[in-house]
Amino acid sequence: MSVQPIDPKKPDLEESTNVSLQHADVMRSAGAASREKQVRENGLEPVSMWIFITGSIIAIIAGSVLFKSSSLLEYDSFVASGYTQKDDPGGATTVPSAEIESLYMSMGKAKYTGCIACHGADGNGTPGAFPPLAGAKWVKESPIIPAFAIIHGVKGAIEVQGSTYNGNMPSQGGDTMGDLELAALIYYIQNSFGNKVGVLYTPEQIGQIRKLSNERSESGQVTAAELTKYLGKKLDGDSFEPGTIVNKKTGEILEVE
Ligand code: HEC
Repeated sequence: MSVQPIDPKKPDLEESTNVSLQHADVMRSAGAASREKQVRENGLEPVSMWIFITGSIIAIIAGSVLFKSSSLLEYDSFVASGYTQKDDPGGATTVPSAEIESLYMSMGKAKYTGCIACHGADGNGTPGAFPPLAGAKWVKESPIIPAFAIIHGVKGAIEVQGSTYNGNMPSQGGDTMGDLELAALIYYIQNSFGNKVGVLYTPEQIGQIRKLSNERSESGQVTAAELTKYLGKKLDGDSFEPGTIVNKKTGEILEVE
C-alpha cells in the first residue's frame, strides 16, 4: 500500500474532531430543543402533585360540608312526597296459598279422575263389578282403609253396602303420591257422593298410615280380612281446622282463621 499524498482540500484525519463526540453534541442540543417545544404556555404547566393532593382534600371536606348544610342533595329532594319504600323480602314475594278445605276438594277431585273408570264420577260404582264409594263403611270409617286401597289395591271377596264383590282393584300408585295429595284424595272421597266425614287430615297424619303400610305383614293387595282391622280406627294428632290457610305445595300452615 503506497502512501497517499496529502490533499489540502480534505481534512487531516489526525487532527479532525472526534466524529462520535460531535454527534453526541448535536443529539443533546436537538433533544433539548425538542423538549423545549413540549413545555406548556404560562398557566398551563402541569401542577405539582402536592398542590393536586391538597386541593383534593379541600374539595372533599368542602363537599361534605355542602352536602350537610344544603337541601340540594337531601334524599327527600329526589323523592316524590308521600312515597314509601316497598319491603323487599327477597325472592318470591307471594306464597301460593289456599284455604285447606277448598284445596283438598280441588286437589282430591283431580286425583279422583283415576278412579272414575271403575267407581264412577258419582261414586256409585257398577253393580256386580265395581263397589260404590258412596255410603261405604270402608271409605267413611277410617282414612287408613281407602289409603291402603289406593296404595296396595284390593282383592278377594268384600261386602260393600249389602252386596258382595269379588273383584280385583290394582294399586293406584298411592306410594308415589305425596302425603298432601293422598290426604286430599281421602278427603275428597270421604266428603263427596253424599259422604260427610269432615276431617282434614294433615300430611303428618298421613305419615302414620305410611308407617302402618310399611309394617304390614301381608303382601300385595289388601283383603277385606286385613281392612276389617282398621274399621273405626282414627289417626293420632290434630287434623287441620277448616279455615286454615296453607302453602298449596307443601301444606305448611300459613295462618289459621
Ligand atoms: C280398575 C278399576 C278400579 C279402579 C281404577 C279403582 N278401583 Fe277401587 N275398587 C275396584 C274393585 C273391583 C274393588 C273391589 C275389590 C274386591 O272385590 O276385592 C275396589 C274397591 C275399592 C275400595 C273398597 C271398597 C269400597 O267400595 O269402599 C275403595 C275404598 C276403593 N276401591 C277406592 C278406590 C279409589 C280411591 C280409586 C282411585 C284412586 C280406585 N278405587 C280405583 C276397582 C277399581
